[in-house]
Amino acid sequence: MSPTSATVATGDLALLYLSPRKTWLVRIQEKGSLHTHVGYLQFDSVIGKRYGSQLTTSLGRALWILRPTIEDFVMKGERRTQVIYPKDMGLIVVKMGVSSGFVVLEIGTGSGAMTTVLANLVRPDGRIYSYEMREEFIEIAKKNLGRAGLLDFVTVNLKDAREGVDVEDADAAVIDVGDPWNVLNPVWRALKGGAVISAITPTANQAEKLVIELEKTGFVNIETVEILLRGLEARMGMTRPSSRMIGHTAYLTFARKVFFEQILAND
Ligand SMILES: C[S@@+](CC[C@H](N)C(=O)[O-])C[C@H]1O[C@@H](n2cnc3c(N)ncnc32)[C@H](O)[C@@H]1O
Repeated sequence: MSPTSATVATGDLALLYLSPRKTWLVRIQEKGSLHTHVGYLQFDSVIGKRYGSQLTTSLGRALWILRPTIEDFVMKGERRTQVIYPKDMGLIVVKMGVSSGFVVLEIGTGSGAMTTVLANLVRPDGRIYSYEMREEFIEIAKKNLGRAGLLDFVTVNLKDAREGVDVEDADAAVIDVGDPWNVLNPVWRALKGGAVISAITPTANQAEKLVIELEKTGFVNIETVEILLRGLEARMGMTRPSSRMIGHTAYLTFARKVFFEQILAND
């Protein structure tokens, strides 16, 4: 979790900023230091300073000390799997309405990037029940969650979710596995009526198959989107879009759980 105090304290995880492409997420300890290509910095000189302060390395270069955001924790986490990108996470959590106290089911913990963002939103009284069938990824996810101070709000289960999940009355679900249609029945059973699910699929073929199965399983308001994010290079008199961008991450499919009482003829 990001520190909330205005000044740097021993034990804080802080972001040291040199440039947009060069930042370090470091634990501030009295005896610690950061060694970089622009010189080193002793942490005892930082404790008690205001976040936002300018610091000087041993080689005279300026750094700033900043409070890390949840995006910094996600992007600096160890990744062994494909992770969901912040641009996609934003819409996912808004569509699902995730807020403090929510119980969220997650299928496909992977590196725990999405889990980190979800846990930060549901704390302190909510919980994430996350399923992962490969033990080595659980270790990575727990390490990332622990570093972000969010492990207490997550239960990670080592299980193939196709065999079922031990969750009831969840408020929302995120599915990030290669065959999401194969977990729809257990996910449907685990959710409260009206709860929103989000599924992440890299290919359009997967999205198509998923949507067809969602309709059969008991979901309505099905919507698939792709988010394209392009930066703007703002310079006096020559502002223009960045020539580089991430071309594609995934398609996002959203749907809401319903109970089919009887088949009605709709117009
Ligand atoms: C793309 S990764 C998830 C990444 C994660 N959303 C993140 O942001 O870090 C997909 C993960 O789902 C796991 N997985 C695939 N099928 C599964 C299943 N049926 N049950 C549980 N986990 C599964 C894989 O082992 C893999 O770690």
